[in-house]
Amino acid sequence: MILVAEGLRKLYGEFCALDGVSLGVAAGEFVSIIGPNGAGKSTLINILTGLTPPSAGTVRFKEREIHGLGPVRLARLGMARSFQLVHIFPDLTVLETLQAAVVARLGRGTRLFASLARDRDVQREALEVAELFRLSDKLGALARHLPQGDKKLLDVASAFALRPEIILLDEPTSGVSTADKTAVMETLVAASRRIGLQAIIQVEHDMDIVFAYSDRIIALHQGKVLADGAPSSIQADQRVIDTVIGRRARAR
Ligand SMILES: Nc1ncnc2c1ncn2[C@@H]1O[C@H](COP(=O)(O)OP(=O)(O)OP(=O)(O)O)[C@@H](O)[C@H]1O
Ligand SMILES: [Mg+2]
Repeated sequence: MILVAEGLRKLYGEFCALDGVSLGVAAGEFVSIIGPNGAGKSTLINILTGLTPPSAGTVRFKEREIHGLGPVRLARLGMARSFQLVHIFPDLTVLETLQAAVVARLGRGTRLFASLARDRDVQREALEVAELFRLSDKLGALARHLPQGDKKLLDVASAFALRPEIILLDEPTSGVSTADKTAVMETLVAASRRIGLQAIIQVEHDMDIVFAYSDRIIALHQGKVLADGAPSSIQADQRVIDTVIGRRARAR
């Protein structure tokens, strides 16, 4: 198991957003987390990535307790994430955004960093990621001027530029048109192979996407794991149908 969470609990005042969540993700797995609004999905991602401390429970990444490490050190260890609400710098261009991510991975500026070779490496990697995510023709565009779908892609691309071993994506296709969702997912899978990514954990509401791409699905409901299994078993799980899948189908 590359990522293991045990007994996670998160209290916001009196409110219990996560209530005893345990899970494990193995190398090679594409895991989707599903659940109705407010189920605790983003809270879970935030705890798994060290952004939010749990009220109780532990998270281990590559056998190491992540408590207190924080997102920057976790990124160095090989974990990256994207956000439900896009998390890009609005005044940077696409190229600058990707360069910043590559620089973050290669470490802080030293004298060495000033060298031309280093600059070339940064440039080459940034361009490579841009190409993977079909952003090559938008390199000079300011992030804030991008359409929502491209902002989302840029956020995910920045996470990939960190060349992580595991990536956690909070609704990577939200705000992306239905027609473009599959393209985003295909891009993601191709990019994952390219950088040798070991595992993907995504929060996703679109059940077509969830069932098409996941090796495993974890259904959350009211802060608890309702079901955790292969897509075929989740699809046939009446409680999941009632609380997650059916609800979505009716809402459409
Ligand atoms: N910082 C916070 N303070 C208080 N309550 C919070 C906070 N963050 C989340 N919550 C509450 O915890 C619950 C879970 O929120 P969370 O954002 O994890 O849900 P979610 O499953 O990601 O929902 P969505 O599908 O809408 O993104 C919600 O009831 C939310 O209102
Ligand atoms: Mg959320």
